Amino acid sequence: MKWKRILKWSALAVLVILVAWFEVAYWTSTNDCARSIPSGGERMKAIRFCEYGPPDVLRLEEVEKPVPKDNELLIRIHAASLNFIDGGLVSGPSVLRLMSGLRKPKFTGFGRDFAGVVEATGRDVTEFKPGDEVFGVKWGAIAEYVCARKDRVALKPANVTFEQAGAVGLSGLTALQGLRAGKIKAGQKVLVNGASGGVGTFAVQIAKAFDTEVTAVCSTRNVEMARKLGADHVIDYTKEDCTKREERYDLLFDNVNNHSFSERRRILKPGGICVLAGLGSAGVHQGQMWRIARIFGASFLSRFVDQKFERYTTTSNQADLKFLSDLMARGKITPFVEKTYAMAETPDALRYFAEGHARGKLVIKIDAVVTSAGELTPDEDVLATSLSSAETVGSVGRTREANR
Ligand SMILES: NC(=O)c1ccc[n+]([C@@H]2O[C@H](COP(=O)([O-])OP(=O)(O)OC[C@H]3O[C@@H](n4cnc5c(N)ncnc54)[C@H](OP(=O)(O)O)[C@@H]3O)[C@@H](O)[C@H]2O)c1
Repeated sequence: MKWKRILKWSALAVLVILVAWFEVAYWTSTNDCARSIPSGGERMKAIRFCEYGPPDVLRLEEVEKPVPKDNELLIRIHAASLNFIDGGLVSGPSVLRLMSGLRKPKFTGFGRDFAGVVEATGRDVTEFKPGDEVFGVKWGAIAEYVCARKDRVALKPANVTFEQAGAVGLSGLTALQGLRAGKIKAGQKVLVNGASGGVGTFAVQIAKAFDTEVTAVCSTRNVEMARKLGADHVIDYTKEDCTKREERYDLLFDNVNNHSFSERRRILKPGGICVLAGLGSAGVHQGQMWRIARIFGASFLSRFVDQKFERYTTTSNQADLKFLSDLMARGKITPFVEKTYAMAETPDALRYFAEGHARGKLVIKIDAVVTSAGELTPDEDVLATSLSSAETVGSVGRTREANR
């Protein structure tokens, strides 16, 4: 009886402490948005979000220009692109808030992938110099400048534009590392489910660069694009279910996770590997939680069968960025950019991305503005004028087809 009472009161005490801790953590969760730029501090324009919410919380604002640490490069950004995770961080679902800030986002910068020119280097940086054209990965990339770690950056090949190189980062790394997790080798049959988005367009091209036979799965409007990217066969998922075919694959790069464990096993050869890369389109849609559960379920169940279902998390590293740079230099991959936007149009870009049917990548051109004719122009004077006139700049609501 005594033990029961002790247990009951202990559980209650733990609960009270947890609730109190959560309350304190919630109400003290804050960010640097209220901090003013120190007098004499250099300024730059950047997209940031001070609150969680819809794409409209993204603001074009003046912030303090960063200063590189010893192992960092100061890079003037020309182009940056959107990723699946960016929209999630802005909308702030509860599960992400445990890491990104309970009440307000801790880190307020937006975007991750970038391309630009090195302006200055930290003391320990010997492999890059001012003037080098580079691309890489850094939180807060939709800004005039970022300071990126030297091992998160690689040289941009001369044959790709800044807009193309700025589209590579996380999507290119996710495709490359996923295909490697699937132990890709020349001569294999590879199926890419979800072949037309940011990650899928890289996965198709990288799989071809490994000399494999690639089947791409996408919707009707993207069939021609998938062929142009190099796919040997294309399945239109609106007309045919890829898991009902007789064809068997060595590697299934699954960007969508919309088929059951047994359906996917059916199209894998004995010993084949299914790489659990993603959840399909970037927007919030019904079935997303179900697809997350399916990822964990499939990777657990595959312990008991000879076909493997591999989960992985993309990591940013220079060796893989260099690998992607080399593939671009050799013309093996060309980043597919569907649309480009001015920095002030970032909320429009995120809205379109969240619909979940972007083709390839959406790129923000940092040094561009929209003219009255709705064109993007790299006129820095216009940019400076339009920015100095207002603390935040509304989106003009126009988008353009990119350079294709
Ligand atoms: N493992 C990691 O560490 C990691 C890292 C980054 C991203 N990811 C994952 O990668 C996934 C894709 O990201 P993304 O940037 O490529 O997103 P995205 O650009 O929105 O592309 C998603 C694609 O999925 C396609 N799709 C939707 N429903 C489909 C279906 N039923 N069958 C086949 N294709 C379908 C869409 O094509 P249509 O327009 O033709 O429908 C769209 O092009 C995300 O789910 C994300 O979780 C994983």
